[in-house]
Amino acid sequence: FTKKDLEGKKVIVTAGPTIEPLDPVRYMTNHSSGKMGYAIANEAKERGADVVLVTGPTNLQDPSGVKLIKVNTTTEMFNAIEKEFNDCDVLIKAAAPLDYRPVKVSDKKIKKDDDNMNIEFTRNVDIALHFGKTKKDNQILVGFAAETNDLIENAKKKIITKNLDFIVANDVTQSETGFKVDNNTVTIIDKNGEINNYPTMKKEEVSELIINKVVSYF
Ligand code: PMT
Repeated sequence: FTKKDLEGKKVIVTAGPTIEPLDPVRYMTNHSSGKMGYAIANEAKERGADVVLVTGPTNLQDPSGVKLIKVNTTTEMFNAIEKEFNDCDVLIKAAAPLDYRPVKVSDKKIKKDDDNMNIEFTRNVDIALHFGKTKKDNQILVGFAAETNDLIENAKKKIITKNLDFIVANDVTQSETGFKVDNNTVTIIDKNGEINNYPTMKKEEVSELIINKVVSYF
């Protein structure tokens, strides 16, 4: 028996990596599998929310009962959220969008020669930062922090700069938790400075914690 404590709420969840093409056959990306975001979307759906899942490319099965929007680049992820954001109650940013994209995308396959190659990158929009600045007071914004060092300190900075209600910090240096795998070890920090450390658990269980925390704001 699951409590339907998100009934009538619209929850946008982002998942997966983004990809940024360099030419028709090459792209940049990262190790995000989408598992964390898909698990959160599923938990929100089970708890009665209207869920919009905006996802970068993953190998996961399409979930049922949610509005699924598939994107490739960080700009596409931003545009998809912008169309859905106005009437949403919660935005949970579990995706790992690329912060940079190549300045030039070649329409033909780039040929190799004997020299080194330099690629110039330009900044992508910081999606969480944008919606943190424009959100209404009653819209809840949840961020993630994927860190390799100074986990808590960096996560706290992100709460302030991105105007988050709370952040889920994960240390992504260990191979058995974080990117790709089924488990995650997280610390949840809220904007009032409350910090909770949790043991390693399944991403489904982490999702339950996150949704419980969201519900406590209503
Ligand atoms: O997908 P999995 O394999 O299950 O792995 C899960 C995960 C490790 C990807 C996930 O738990 C996680 O930590 N996601 C956030 C990854 C990330 O981009 O962290 P960050 O510290 O670089 O960004 C901080 C926050 O800003 C995040 O909420 C991120 O979604 C957001 N962001 C980042 C860059 C950008 N251009 N726009 C953003 O909105």
